[in-house]
Amino acid sequence: PAAAMPTRAPLGARSQVGYGKIILLGEHSVVYGRRAIAAPIGLTVRAEVVRGEPGQAPVITDWNVDGSAQETISPDVSHQVAALIAARLGLPESGVRVDVFSKLPRASGLGASAAFAVALIRATAECFSIELSDEQVSSLAFECEQIVHGTPSGIDNTVATFGRPILFKKTDAPSGHEISDIVTPHPIPIVIGLSGVHALTAHTVAAVRAAWLHNRARYDAIFDQIDSLVGEGADALRRGDTAELGELMNINQGLLNALQVSSPELEQMVAIARRAGALGAKLTGGGGGGAIIALAGPAGAEPIRTALHQAGYTTYLTEIR
Ligand code: MEV
Repeated sequence: PAAAMPTRAPLGARSQVGYGKIILLGEHSVVYGRRAIAAPIGLTVRAEVVRGEPGQAPVITDWNVDGSAQETISPDVSHQVAALIAARLGLPESGVRVDVFSKLPRASGLGASAAFAVALIRATAECFSIELSDEQVSSLAFECEQIVHGTPSGIDNTVATFGRPILFKKTDAPSGHEISDIVTPHPIPIVIGLSGVHALTAHTVAAVRAAWLHNRARYDAIFDQIDSLVGEGADALRRGDTAELGELMNINQGLLNALQVSSPELEQMVAIARRAGALGAKLTGGGGGGAIIALAGPAGAEPIRTALHQAGYTTYLTEIR
């Protein structure tokens, strides 16, 4: 099913919300200190935390927005994340009840794990009347992402927290990164296509690391090329130059394929989107399955969505603004 969606969470819900995201340019190389651009999408995870019986094990329940059972994030992982949050906030681990309402598909490269962590941190802090700055939320969510992903760059938790488009670079600074805002002169329409193949970012990140350890110079050269595309992409976005941005996305896809994180489904979707008029199309996030993004051209987003639906894929429409 296709759904148009707002690009911001409803006002007032922010305190318990984590934002899903797309990476426009620069996934994987961002783990190695190169730049990347990410933007929030209107799909969010919201959490509600209430105090339960002291001494009782925490209960975490996952719901789809339509009230149906959500495919579970590994219960192990969600309990480890909840335990870490409780420990960092100085709370007893037991006696909380957590309800998670997710609009974000899991294992799709759209940042569901980071959005879950951010939502849970905000809802837990609110339940126990603890004031946290956005920086504190993001840095705790980064620790949660280390449980889920191993060696995250920090880009997912940053966008999940701040909910605005950013240029991101991992650094040795105490914050762990440099970020700058990206403001576009007009909203940029993006079609998100889901391959339906679940892929764990942890796996593709580990595969790229193994390849890099085996031949650092070869992979560093690819990461450097992606970094230049990202720099040019940030300029293109700030000018609103979608033709240039699309070309950069296409080249980035070629380099992601070189990193061997694409898949037959992703390649097929990218080809369909380009044939249907996309100015650029690439996988987004960890790859190996998951999702693509396509930048709509002059003919608009509908022909791209229709072509992807005809091939059996689910799409969402979002905007970078
Ligand atoms: C995942 O959204 C993006 C990756 O670059 C991993 C990361 O940055 O942590 C694949």
